Amino acid sequence: MNSIPVCNYEGSDYQQSFWERGGRAYEDGCERIALRRLLPVGQEHERLLELGAGAGRNTLRYVGYGEITLVDYSRTQLEQARQRLGDGRRFRYVAADIYYLPFAPAQFHAATMIRTLHHMVEPRLALDQVRRVLRPGAIFILEYANKQNLKAVLRYLLRRQSWSPFSPEPVEFAPLNFDFHPATVRTWLQASGFAVERQLTVSHFRVGLFKRLFPQGWLVALDSVAQLTGDLWQLSPSVFARCRAVGTPSAESSAEPFVFRCPACGHAPLEDTPPRILCPECRREYPAEDGIYDFRIR
Ligand SMILES: C[S@@+](CC[C@H](N)C(=O)[O-])C[C@H]1O[C@@H](n2cnc3c(N)ncnc32)[C@H](O)[C@@H]1O
Ligand SMILES: [Zn+2]
Repeated sequence: MNSIPVCNYEGSDYQQSFWERGGRAYEDGCERIALRRLLPVGQEHERLLELGAGAGRNTLRYVGYGEITLVDYSRTQLEQARQRLGDGRRFRYVAADIYYLPFAPAQFHAATMIRTLHHMVEPRLALDQVRRVLRPGAIFILEYANKQNLKAVLRYLLRRQSWSPFSPEPVEFAPLNFDFHPATVRTWLQASGFAVERQLTVSHFRVGLFKRLFPQGWLVALDSVAQLTGDLWQLSPSVFARCRAVGTPSAESSAEPFVFRCPACGHAPLEDTPPRILCPECRREYPAEDGIYDFRIR
């Protein structure tokens, strides 16, 4: 039923090979600072949605939120996240496709999507889905890979790269891996119903030579200062944007019930009845076993 390709991390050891053994402590440190700057501390009645959560590298950075829902297309990534974070009422693990989110409208007070938009063939559709499940006034932190980064600009000017970093269309530099132009992403965000409040440019010194020559703490500290120019120009490989779901927030001080929606037919509410959740409308059944809901529909 769904022909949009997904970058499949099933069975991948991404967390270990890319982050833990991959020499990416500098990038991780820069992202930690950007998230702390952009994401407000949540409140006990608030729910945060982490899209493309992977193995939960960032999850413990979302401070204060009463509930965090981790969504990833890969069940094995969620298994790793669950091993790291445990169960308990604070975390909910959901295997689902961002293009078909299994949640009723306006369920979340905040959302993050880090290092995930760059896998999206249809980024506008993905952003529309995110907006649908957010409450008016909700915060959305979006990280994306920037095609207009300094390295790409230099390579283009020196004729060592064929594609232009200045043109608005995405560039697919490897299958299902895209870099985006910041102006294009801002246009998409606005069209999907978000106001961009603040941008931070991140990981300016992601260059092997710098990482070898200088202590990681220095580079992170320098990046932390450079991040603050993010609203003026964007020349770093990664950009973090703090966006606000447009609309008038409704008053709410205590938790409202959480509502799943059938990703196949759109019916809501679905009754939360592990180990199987049945859609009374289209009769599809979704497994909810070993602490992970599985709402994948292909
Ligand atoms: C590069 S990893 C980033 C993980 C985590 N956000 C981090 O920064 O460590 C991208 C993640 O996005 C997930 N993903 C890609 N396409 C998806 C889709 N259409 N729906 C849900 N998850 C998706 C992948 O399974 C993968 O775990
Ligand atoms: Zn259904």
